Amino acid sequence: MKKITIVMSAFAVLLSTTTFAHNQDEVQGFFSQKELAEKHLIDRGDGKAKWMPLSEALHLGALAHESGRCGGFFDLTGMKKVSSVPLMPVETFRLSLGDRPMTQQVYLQESLSILDTQRLFKTVSDLAAYRNRFYKSETGVSSANFIADQFRAIAKNRSDVTVDLFAHKKWAQPSVVVTMKGTGPQANEIVVIGGHEDSINQSAFGSKNMDAPGADDNATGVATILEVFRVLVDTNFKPNRTLMFMTYAAEEVGLLGSQEIANQFKLEKKSVVGVVQFDMTGFMGAGDQVVFMTDFTSPELTQFSQKLLDTYVKAKWSTDKCGYACSDHASWNKAGYMAVMPFEATMGGDNKDIHSSRDLISKLDFNHSLHFAKLGLAFMAELSQ
Ligand code: BES
Ligand code: ZN
Repeated sequence: MKKITIVMSAFAVLLSTTTFAHNQDEVQGFFSQKELAEKHLIDRGDGKAKWMPLSEALHLGALAHESGRCGGFFDLTGMKKVSSVPLMPVETFRLSLGDRPMTQQVYLQESLSILDTQRLFKTVSDLAAYRNRFYKSETGVSSANFIADQFRAIAKNRSDVTVDLFAHKKWAQPSVVVTMKGTGPQANEIVVIGGHEDSINQSAFGSKNMDAPGADDNATGVATILEVFRVLVDTNFKPNRTLMFMTYAAEEVGLLGSQEIANQFKLEKKSVVGVVQFDMTGFMGAGDQVVFMTDFTSPELTQFSQKLLDTYVKAKWSTDKCGYACSDHASWNKAGYMAVMPFEATMGGDNKDIHSSRDLISKLDFNHSLHFAKLGLAFMAELSQ
């Protein structure tokens, strides 16, 4: 029944734009008729890209979630093909993680206790207050600026930190890219913590006024990243490697922002030693455990992160699969870098209210989120040295 409602409402959006459009190019909502009909090159994660109208690609995602699956896809339209570009010779920067010792116990013992659930709550609440953070909307842009301002306020006394907006040519919402410069001999090597900043309402994606609070998906990820950054700055942490904090634009429409960034890093031959993706950290759908996604991720980095969790967080964990390229870790993975995706629940126990007006803060548990912030802080501190 629910499935039928979604199909019908998506159909109603299309129908209403068809009925009331006086001219083919007239923009009724976020997408003009012409844009919805335009063919996009969509790869559902199996490497077999197919041309289809944008409307069809967006519906694929909505329908998959209704049936309890993750319906991820890469929108490859207009993306430079970088698969044939080699990374830097891997041995120059690939860390050997299997036998890597933990060295940051002293620093982490103190700093992990400073992570604060109230700050996580405040960021999620501020972000969810935007009507939506859609990649094409004004509030999509202002919410990205808000995130950049939060980073700037925290870093105001640090000359080794830069906060940049990464502009995307094809849509208005910028990604936010924050750099804390390394101070050691490996300063050219980079550790990334990231998650997407945009939100979507999949049953009303054509409407300018859609309500998409995206509290769980993914204000929680942004809050987690910001809180890790806050504690690193407040403890005056000086990394050996360079640390980067990213909130990606346009994830919900085919991992667009993160693909551009990861591809650019690859083309510029940047040595990214590890990427941790936080996408949904606040819904306790399968008990208080961290679930590591084992597809489109690095087994080595995942195993290392499980060790971090055992050492520093002492929370339960398990593994599952998205089954698709369900979030931005897949963009880094595709570019050849090691990525890990710790998720809030199993696929079966996931938050069914995402991508709707019901993705609200009231359903979230910030003690659950705190485990992810702890893991993120341990990840950044350990891999930075
Ligand atoms: N946060 C979700 C991914 C997710 C949802 C993972 C539920 C596990 C369970 C992400 O924002 C998302 O919605 N991804 C899309 C794919 C994207 C490429 C359009 C999806 O899952 O449909
Ligand atoms: Zn989503």
